[in-house]
Amino acid sequence: MDEQAAQIDLAAIGEDVPLLEGIRTARAIRRLRKDPVPPGLVRKVCEAGTFAPSGGNRQPWIFVAVTTPDGRAFVAERYRRAFHAYIAPALEAAKDPAFPEERRRNIRAALHLADHLAEAPVHLFVAGWTRRGEAQTQALFPAIQNVLLACRAVGLGASLTTVHRAFGGEIDAWLGLPRDCPSCALLPIGWPLGRYGRPPRRPVEECLFFERYEQRSPEEP
Ligand SMILES: Cc1cc2nc3c(=O)[nH]c(=O)nc-3n(C[C@H](O)[C@H](O)[C@H](O)COP(=O)(O)O)c2cc1C
Repeated sequence: MDEQAAQIDLAAIGEDVPLLEGIRTARAIRRLRKDPVPPGLVRKVCEAGTFAPSGGNRQPWIFVAVTTPDGRAFVAERYRRAFHAYIAPALEAAKDPAFPEERRRNIRAALHLADHLAEAPVHLFVAGWTRRGEAQTQALFPAIQNVLLACRAVGLGASLTTVHRAFGGEIDAWLGLPRDCPSCALLPIGWPLGRYGRPPRRPVEECLFFERYEQRSPEEP
């Protein structure tokens, strides 16, 4: 066990963060330190995932944490290729001086993750059993959000990514996942370089309606 892991009280860590404050400050943390994350902490955040609701309480989730340097390099090489293809149109659009600075920042952070994914100490894949031949993606997202919130609570940086799906079949086979249990998300997790904080979000007044929706602007959302 390394020194940091020895100092962590797994039962106590993260238990004191107020729920709503955690929710409001659980932004995507894509700049991560290389230091390892204790397996007990990976277990703790995945356990939070298992408390999510699911249809019929079927709990279709499977978590696979990839932590070896070779394994992370395999994933990162494919993620980088998929992300660069995905982001190319946005990079082109960002050349326009009128492109919003907030979105530019977001793209920069996402590119940083794509180019440094191999250094993220934990690549957590969330997969799920299909039902009657259909992926249960909607059943996995509450569990994924619980894991992200648990990471926020214990002080780990994390973000939700999906572009590895461009290489989904290959990566799933490499992970040992059966054909009827595809991965749906990849959460790169590690100790944050930056800080948690309130992310930019539309005010609730723009998206909350009582009784009936009324379009307020032609550009909505
Ligand atoms: C369904 C879904 C898929 C996403 N896929 C990716 C992805 O592949 N790569 C990535 O860097 N971020 C991905 N994100 C993260 C979003 O870009 C991020 O949540 C958003 O920019 C807000 O970031 P913030 O919390 O820092 O404001 C995804 C988010 C969702 C909900």
